[in-house]
Amino acid sequence: MSTQNSTQNGTPVHIIGQGLDRLDGRLKVTGGARYTAEHPLPRLAQAVIVQSTIASGTVVSIDDSMARSLPGVLLIMTYKNAPRLPVPKQESGSPSGSPPAAPTPLLQDASVKYNGQPVAVVVADTLEHARHAAQSLKIRYAAKPAVLGMQAAKKSLKTPPPRRPGEKTDATRGNAVAAFSQSAKRLDAMYTTPIETHNAMEPHATIAAWQGDELTLYDSSQNISGVQKTAARTFGIDPSNIRVLCPFLGGGFGSKGSAWSHVMLTAMAAKMTGTPVKLALERTQMFGPVGSRPMTEQRMRLGAAPNGALKSLMHDTVSSNSFVLDFSEPSTTITKSLYMAESLQTTQRMATMNLGAHTYTRAPGEASGSFALECAIDEMAYALNIDPIALRLQNYADKDPEKELPFSSKSLRECYRVGAEKFGWSRRTPEPRSMRSGRMLVGWGMATATYPANRDAAKASALIRADGTALVRCGTHDLGTGTYTIMTQIAAEALGLPVNKVRFELGDTLQPESPGAGGSKTTASVGPAVYAAAKAAREKLVAMAVADRDSPLSGLAPEAVDVQNGWLIDRQRPDRREPMVTVMARHGGAAVEAYSESKPGDEKKQYSMHSFGAVFVEVHVDPDLGTIRVPRVVGVYGIGKLMNRKTGHSQLMGGIVWGLSMGLMEKTEMDWRTGRAVNANLADYHVPVNADIGVIDVSVVDEDDPHINVLGAKGIGEIGIVGVAAALGNAVYHATGKRVRDLPITLDKLI
Ligand code: MOS
Repeated sequence: MSTQNSTQNGTPVHIIGQGLDRLDGRLKVTGGARYTAEHPLPRLAQAVIVQSTIASGTVVSIDDSMARSLPGVLLIMTYKNAPRLPVPKQESGSPSGSPPAAPTPLLQDASVKYNGQPVAVVVADTLEHARHAAQSLKIRYAAKPAVLGMQAAKKSLKTPPPRRPGEKTDATRGNAVAAFSQSAKRLDAMYTTPIETHNAMEPHATIAAWQGDELTLYDSSQNISGVQKTAARTFGIDPSNIRVLCPFLGGGFGSKGSAWSHVMLTAMAAKMTGTPVKLALERTQMFGPVGSRPMTEQRMRLGAAPNGALKSLMHDTVSSNSFVLDFSEPSTTITKSLYMAESLQTTQRMATMNLGAHTYTRAPGEASGSFALECAIDEMAYALNIDPIALRLQNYADKDPEKELPFSSKSLRECYRVGAEKFGWSRRTPEPRSMRSGRMLVGWGMATATYPANRDAAKASALIRADGTALVRCGTHDLGTGTYTIMTQIAAEALGLPVNKVRFELGDTLQPESPGAGGSKTTASVGPAVYAAAKAAREKLVAMAVADRDSPLSGLAPEAVDVQNGWLIDRQRPDRREPMVTVMARHGGAAVEAYSESKPGDEKKQYSMHSFGAVFVEVHVDPDLGTIRVPRVVGVYGIGKLMNRKTGHSQLMGGIVWGLSMGLMEKTEMDWRTGRAVNANLADYHVPVNADIGVIDVSVVDEDDPHINVLGAKGIGEIGIVGVAAALGNAVYHATGKRVRDLPITLDKLI
């Protein structure tokens, strides 16, 4: 591929890779970016959900006599009057991007499966009227004993279905149990991680409007075509009758990858009232109805030879699950392919309880699994008295031990080397409590990061107009990650136009179809489609010029023509040139349009594709109070090519911040008697603020991956969080001599 072009004076120009400011930045800071709940529609009614106060049982009666008499009330929708829906096939949890999970309970019967389940929807002319009426409903329940907490739920474990066709849930290589018992050094430890709630800045919201049988949904979604398909299945209508729009998104992190109950309930309420309806969740309502990361119990068993070679690696995970939707946190995934262990065994089970659905949360599996695996490796390094990086290098996997395929690229050695150098690792004294800064205990820890380099099929269109501007489209998503910006860069480079002449549009199912923005695959999936569409449009223009007797480029072979900055240029004789607009004007001023479909080919069968990284964390622990501060983190990644230095670094940095959050703060505190989250707000559910974060030094190593896609880009949305909590736990051990195997690492666990 030639992302390298030359300007008139021969200087190469790379638009791709430049640290361009976010093109949507100004709109966002000035309020010009319209988020879902902000779309003004005529006659827009307001809906609120009423949630169950029991975790298990049935609704016995709903007295709405008072609510009906209140001003402005348009509808009280309960299981008694809600439209009966065709029964959709219940699907189990699937990886991000595959067809979305079937929606959770939609008022089709009186049953209650979790505390906080929507049991009524109230619609009124104003939000205040809707809330007032909702509070006046008198609901009686017949509660059944609920299954709550791991201990109760573990009595009946389920094995999750494979995440992808052909992929095994459990893995076995050799006899890991026997090898473990014969190993010179053994570690057998249990690591636990709590339920975490995504808490995107923008709460979930939906606006639904029907025109006859046609449905328009404004939805805060990272998977608009998935919402379209789920709605089609739910209502038994053709997907082409449903349009889903989401031009701006205030974060999602996996929780906006599915069409949850509130989306469908809004559409049902709009149908019943005959008016467009808006439903915006409150922060508190995001704890339950719209997904969370499961809690995990992960048993790690490692057996090693005295030189550090792993003879046995075993990882058994139980993750919490709900009765509304099967989903497992695949924490063992990372263990199957990260190290060259002689024998391996991984198992993955679900413990089902009366909770709202679990779902994908940034690096689902890898984030939680790396905490267990990478802490266990550190514990083994201490047991063997080997440096933790040396132990990792001793067991380095030069090819994928699970798929038995070479990696398309793997720069992990380089990441360890560069990271160690930047961090100053050689100055570390390994003995716990051996490093100090004033009265603070200093700890240095590190861990490996990895995430699969995913790619799906995507489509895009590119239009060059007679005025020399271009419009490029794909129905994809910008979660705040930079999609608008990098797709504009990719298109501009492929078109031969400056960035300010190119407009990229996304977030509408009328545009060419994109996969959901999950599994860190938007850049690797949509990027090549945008590149191909733009290149095809440019080639049409070049073909017009060389076939045109009035063009200075007449008669040249198409390959002999470069396109730069809106000019068509003879590569051999750059003085022979003419502007795109001149060519188009001579052809009657019609726009030139091209369309592309791009998908992965056979390369997936030939190579294992992953991103890798190394993360180093310094902690300062107060020896008396157990408070933990993190003055600095160094993260070095091999992720192919960055499409935009600035937004790319921000992505990785954001992932690291979340890793620190996971390591130190985040936990959805459940009241296991009632099945309710007791910290369902951002005052009590702790996430870091600026003052919690020190220096984060992110860099990427040069990595040329010719196999992955035409752009050489791996996704970066998720790898940043991976390994951070482990590096932190390892640093805390180094500082204090205390091994905390239960997240988050709070001060009570240190004193
Ligand atoms: Mo991500 S958890 O695949 O949005």
